[in-house]
Amino acid sequence: MSQCPYSPSNQDADWHNAELNFSDSMSYGDYLDLGRILSAQHPLSPDHNELLFIIQHQTSELWMKLMLHELKAAREHIRLSELQPAFKMLARVSRIFDQLVHAWTVLATMTPTEYHSIRPFLGQSSGFQSFQYREIEFLLGNKSATLLRPHAHRPELLQALQEAIVTPSLYDEAIGLMVKAGLHIDPQRFERDPSSPTAHDPSVEAAWREVYTDPKRYWDLYQLAEKFIDLEDSFRQWRFRHVTTVERIIGFQPGTGGTEGVGYLRKMLDTVLFPELWRVRSTL
Ligand code: HEM
Repeated sequence: MSQCPYSPSNQDADWHNAELNFSDSMSYGDYLDLGRILSAQHPLSPDHNELLFIIQHQTSELWMKLMLHELKAAREHIRLSELQPAFKMLARVSRIFDQLVHAWTVLATMTPTEYHSIRPFLGQSSGFQSFQYREIEFLLGNKSATLLRPHAHRPELLQALQEAIVTPSLYDEAIGLMVKAGLHIDPQRFERDPSSPTAHDPSVEAAWREVYTDPKRYWDLYQLAEKFIDLEDSFRQWRFRHVTTVERIIGFQPGTGGTEGVGYLRKMLDTVLFPELWRVRSTL
């Protein structure tokens, strides 16, 4: 009779071959620096639920770090006309957003009563001051000099954001690629101040229309356009789940960051990162 695969004696055989002493070599925890990551949660209130609140934010920030890593590399690949690696990176960012959309369901287990036990300990801290989030928005073309202000007290962060705001966005680089492909773009689109937010440009919409009406000829640009739409679709869902979770927890009370709260977040739902790509759909 064969032995049960889960029997302790089989486990012993597996462990026999596994490395169990790490005094002279790098372990899992060493590689991941878990000592630091897992000791970076410092609840300020006596409330049981604050750990959820902290970990939800920290994990979101870790995923944002990866998104920035991918988005910056994708922008560089687009600038160099290397679209295949850029597609891979943009797809990864969309899937990260999808995952963060699902993550809201964990935070939604927090009731208003639980949040209000923590709220007095949060002071004025708010996701509104997330410098990584702001950099993602800038990379995607949603630029705003006013939103540099919350970082004025941290010169190193302010400098990184000041660089991000004057650097052409991912979408600006894609428009450069359209010119290289022989599509006509109004030269004023290039001369615009790179620190201003993306605004609809009729020549860009007309160029995308050419791409969408002849995908075989412009296959790479066609695929790039769909990657952008995919990304913005996922980002919109993240924004929507944020505002709904916030309404569920604090209703229409002001945010800790000083905005009107849900009202502000609802306005952010109107953000359009790739305006011509959305508009062109009505004309095809
Ligand atoms: C109970 C949980 C949460 C509440 C009540 C909440 C509430 C708010 C409110 C009211 C704002 C507007 C700014 C303000 O006045 O504070 C805001 C902004 C923001 N929150 Fe949250 N939030 C929560 C969780 C999160 C989480 C888990 C993240 C993930 C990092 C996050 C990221 C952000 C970001 C990035 C902004 C800026 C959005 C923008 O400027 O478009 N929030 N939040």
